[in-house]
Amino acid sequence: MNSPVLGKDLLGLETLSAEQIRLILDTAGPLKEISERTIKKVPALRGMTIVNLFFEASTRTRISFEFAEKRLSADTVNVGAAGSSVSKGETLVDTARNLEAMRIDMVVIRHGASGAAKFLADRIESKVVNAGDGTHEHPTQGLLDLLTLRDRLGDLAGRRVCICGDVLHSRVARSNLWGLKKLGAEVAVCGPRSLLPNAIDEMGVKVFDRIEAAIEWAEALNILRLQLERMQGGYIPSLREYNRVFGVTRERLDRAPRDIIIMHPGPMNRGVEIDSDVADGPHSVILDQVTNGVAIRMAVLYLLAGGRPEGG
Ligand code: CP
Repeated sequence: MNSPVLGKDLLGLETLSAEQIRLILDTAGPLKEISERTIKKVPALRGMTIVNLFFEASTRTRISFEFAEKRLSADTVNVGAAGSSVSKGETLVDTARNLEAMRIDMVVIRHGASGAAKFLADRIESKVVNAGDGTHEHPTQGLLDLLTLRDRLGDLAGRRVCICGDVLHSRVARSNLWGLKKLGAEVAVCGPRSLLPNAIDEMGVKVFDRIEAAIEWAEALNILRLQLERMQGGYIPSLREYNRVFGVTRERLDRAPRDIIIMHPGPMNRGVEIDSDVADGPHSVILDQVTNGVAIRMAVLYLLAGGRPEGG
């Protein structure tokens, strides 16, 4: 049965309406409390089998999904490329169809190829949740970022959020852009032109070439990791130079006209895109993002399984 709220799958925020995004955030809010209990478990997904198919490295997303599944009482299995028959050349779809033959209900997939989650969703009956596909989207990260911002700022309509750094390679940036714009926020990006998509000027966002200007404008900065593993060279002169020109430092924030919420999806390159005294400073919500990630993933799994939103 498809979710009356989300349909069969969650593949990205581009295809969700503002109402669907709000329903997920509203569902996640009350679910946060479950993680604060001594016994962190409710029976909402009892009897459901979920496979976490992680073909790319992950700490936060993989563990967060696993906690979310366990706290909702689902049965879970983790499959990685290493140690599975993918390493012998089995295709993604064959792997998933063999898992389906063992009667699963949902697949959470992280994959290095943009579009891999949709490719799979179109070919299997199980529900598919995109846990990050190449440089395309990372919808649950976008949702947890929205929840963290909403916790601090309330309604996001008209609030000013700047996404800083390696936007070009960032699926987090894309999901944030879609989500923030749908909720009515003003969105900007800031970074060297070599790390911004060519079409950035048509995306309806402000573009800052200087981090100082972004800091002057923004109420929140979402600072992205320089994805060195996706760069073949030539994007930036050196990490030191990047930090000198675009790094979010204490000195730069001290000159801001207001307190600025500091976000980072992780993993961080400390001393490159963000300095340690900013990452660990009083305005950082980086660990709140991680905490909210569990509630967002619980909400997504619960809704996809047919659960009703609060008051629905
Ligand atoms: N934010 C994020 O996706 O982190 P991981 O790569 O550790 O999952």
